[in-house]
Amino acid sequence: MTPGRATPGRTGPGRDCALCPRLVAFRDELRRDFPLWHNAPVPSFGPENARLLIVGLAPGLKGANRTGRPFTGDYAGDLLYATLAKFGWASGKYVAGRDDGVWSTDTLMLKDVRITNAVRCLPPQNKPLPAEINVCRQFLSGELTALPKLRAILALGRVAHETILGTLGLKRSAYKFVHGALHDLPGGLTLADSYHCSRYNTNTGVLTPEMFEQVFAALRSHLTRT
Ligand code: URA
Repeated sequence: MTPGRATPGRTGPGRDCALCPRLVAFRDELRRDFPLWHNAPVPSFGPENARLLIVGLAPGLKGANRTGRPFTGDYAGDLLYATLAKFGWASGKYVAGRDDGVWSTDTLMLKDVRITNAVRCLPPQNKPLPAEINVCRQFLSGELTALPKLRAILALGRVAHETILGTLGLKRSAYKFVHGALHDLPGGLTLADSYHCSRYNTNTGVLTPEMFEQVFAALRSHLTRT
């Protein structure tokens, strides 16, 4: 594995995954217009022995869809990676590009945390359809079973929260999405909720950097206790 690079792993879709016709059409268009971009399902990033899995919504157009690494190259990633670094979950330099760290000795590395998305391909207007979310759930399911030390999952936003519950076969009504909540799930897993760290949410004050840090502080003490 190349440090700093997202790797397809054993559980992800292939580069030309054809499961969602609308997303494939969008991808084909972008491959024509921006041939140097990643323009493919974005693989998860981080070690497979992680105890914490962070689940976002879907790649951003000029972020993960361009760079090929979750949350890399857009505002949401600036906040996420800075917060991870603050709590010791990330080290090295986040330069928000495709070649992040490849030419330097200060490669961005995650420790004990892995990052993925509920939907692996870029959806138009950043809005995946319910059918696309359902189809892509198989990859989240594969991800969950491939992480032997997994103890906690952080859902960034309601869609991620509901997708995680669906993947685990749990009822939404039993675990409401509440920013800052830590839900005890069957089997000893914990599901933590945060508002998504999108530019929109931070610009509108729905999520402040302090609120985001509180979620990570709670997760850190939870993982230290368990
Ligand atoms: N980038 C991602 O990879 N996921 C998100 O949810 C947002 C930005």
